[in-house]
Amino acid sequence: MRDAPSHGFASLLPLQTCDLTFTAANGSRLIHGIDLTLDAGSLTVVMGPNGAGKSVFLRLLHGLLEPTGGTIKYAGEPLSDAIRKRQALVFQKPVLLRRSVAANIDFVLKLRARPGSTQPDPVRRDELLDQVGLLDRAAQPARQLSGGEQQRLALARALATRPDILFLDEPTASLDPASTLMIEQITSDAHAAGTKIICVTHDVAQARRLAGDVVFLSNGHLIETANADDFFSNPKSREAQAYLEGRLIV
Ligand SMILES: Nc1ncnc2c1ncn2[C@@H]1O[C@H](COP(=O)(O)OP(=O)(O)OP(=O)(O)O)[C@@H](O)[C@H]1O
Ligand SMILES: [Mg+2]
Repeated sequence: MRDAPSHGFASLLPLQTCDLTFTAANGSRLIHGIDLTLDAGSLTVVMGPNGAGKSVFLRLLHGLLEPTGGTIKYAGEPLSDAIRKRQALVFQKPVLLRRSVAANIDFVLKLRARPGSTQPDPVRRDELLDQVGLLDRAAQPARQLSGGEQQRLALARALATRPDILFLDEPTASLDPASTLMIEQITSDAHAAGTKIICVTHDVAQARRLAGDVVFLSNGHLIETANADDFFSNPKSREAQAYLEGRLIV
């Protein structure tokens, strides 16, 4: 499999959080004692209203924020640099280098190249750019790309590392339908090739297309976890019911 992750998704999973808590420097508690187990095999979608703590939660899982309480374990091991290197995160707003499209991919390929491998790897880079429909833009400055194109480049860059776990934070929030479908296809392909995907989205139709299981957060609390069919046909919590019906709960 061309895009198979380096170690196979079983190796970092299950991902288990126990009483995971995060209190910001200003004293506000953003994540409240989350107990959750995510297994291999299923594409996980994280949903919840604005401000629910979804982005903070992903940052904690990826080690960009340090929990103020509780634990995160990958296959029983606490998060370490070695584990982080086998993960990638695509942010809500893409963060790209002030260089060409190609250089943005080369940078990551060089960082992750194994000792003894030939560098750079233009074949792999072009393969990735082709996958996200940006091959003909390779020489262009990345910051000149449209928002949707930048998001596709950010996804290609994340996949360049062949991550075992890929966190996506609203990867299609500002994209048109064609770009959205392209991102979904790439995400599905990565999932099929064995990458564990944990994707935040507000797009219910997208969640229905992609999700194997759903994690629903509200006000920093884990409200509900369910397989996708159950969640969409019969959400248990009134918060999830309201969210799916487009109602605000106060
Ligand atoms: N470093 C911080 N210090 C204080 N508050 C923060 C910090 N980071 C985030 N917050 C607050 O925590 C809450 C959760 O933020 P988060 O970005 O995780 O929400 P979200 O669920 O991703 O929302 P959205 O759907 O709008 O992206 C928000 O109210 C936000 O303002
Ligand atoms: Mg967010």
